[in-house]
Amino acid sequence: MIQVEGVTKRYGPKTAVSNISFEVERGEIVGFLGPNGAGKTTTMRILTGFLPPTLGTASVAGFDVGKSPIEVKRRIGYLPESPPLYPEMEVEDYLRFVAAIKRIPKKEIPRRVDAVLERTATGAVRDLLVGKLSKGYRQRVGLAQALIHGPEVLVLDEPTSGLDPKQIIEVRGLIRSLAGEHTILLSTHILPEVAGTCGRVIIINEGRIEASDTPENLTAQLQGANSLLLDIDGPSEAVRERLELDLAVRKVIEHEARNGRTVWRVEADKDENLTRRLAEAVVTSGWGLYGMQSLGLSLEDIFLKLTSDESAAAQAEEEVPEPEAAESDPPADEGSGSGEGEDE
Ligand SMILES: Nc1ncnc2c1ncn2[C@@H]1O[C@H](COP(=O)(O)OP(=O)(O)O)[C@@H](O)[C@H]1O
Ligand SMILES: [Mg+2]
Repeated sequence: MIQVEGVTKRYGPKTAVSNISFEVERGEIVGFLGPNGAGKTTTMRILTGFLPPTLGTASVAGFDVGKSPIEVKRRIGYLPESPPLYPEMEVEDYLRFVAAIKRIPKKEIPRRVDAVLERTATGAVRDLLVGKLSKGYRQRVGLAQALIHGPEVLVLDEPTSGLDPKQIIEVRGLIRSLAGEHTILLSTHILPEVAGTCGRVIIINEGRIEASDTPENLTAQLQGANSLLLDIDGPSEAVRERLELDLAVRKVIEHEARNGRTVWRVEADKDENLTRRLAEAVVTSGWGLYGMQSLGLSLEDIFLKLTSDESAAAQAEEEVPEPEAAESDPPADEGSGSGEGEDE
């Protein structure tokens, strides 16, 4: 449903996103996880047609974002980091306004507005000024504007950031409830965010994709699992059996063949003495040990940079609001000049 191939984005000399590729299948909920500055927003703005990539291509539902921006926007609902809300408008009027910008036929607008008010449980605030809403409601109205044209794909940029714990739970529940009907890519820099919501996680750091896996597997790696590569010259079956003998070892996998030897990947519980024990085991068995390498460090580094404490994260966002991205880039050109904000 979403395809990104070799996308690079440079802002002047600064490379925000470097040769990233990934896919999101129809119906998936994928978490785009990475610390601040990793390149999440940049990628999402490219996907939604608001920013042209420097290199590479992206497509949504088979439409290239550069060549068919209108087709893409028709199929994507985008909730930017700071939703384009107009504080002086009433919620319902705002949604009508957005619907008109998105070229929904006039006679259909009231029905669509009612539907998204119901879908996002914002009916109770339909007559309130957007500026008077709580953050939780504001975010739900943001989701309502993303949903109003019935898009197949939702791109949600840090949808729960800045919310309090109760609001986070509500907005997460809402996102989960949208899962069946939509393909969803949501970004976050908060680790627990992906666990309950996403079927798969793509980890991005410093503009590069570092991993893509289920939250369970990533969490297992985080919770003290230890991965080692061992380049061993010895009879395969005997080597495997000997490595598996170690009590900390969970799994022994043939990683690759190298110069007629086998490089083994050993997954084990965290254990300070593991490397020494395995090296000893190999050598006392009379085999050659050509190399040993600990894996997963880069992932650990990234996890360290991620926030695991949600309320602290919410607080931090409150105190240091992200400045609106300085638009040094020309806007991705599209026919209408009507919507100043990122309203599609
Ligand atoms: N308009 C811009 N001009 C220059 N640099 C930018 C601009 N937008 C983002 N960047 C830089 O690109 C990198 C990625 O930013 P961003 O995509 O916003 O990351 P994230 O959303 O993961 O926090 C950061 O280093 C950021 O400072
Ligand atoms: Mg961002």
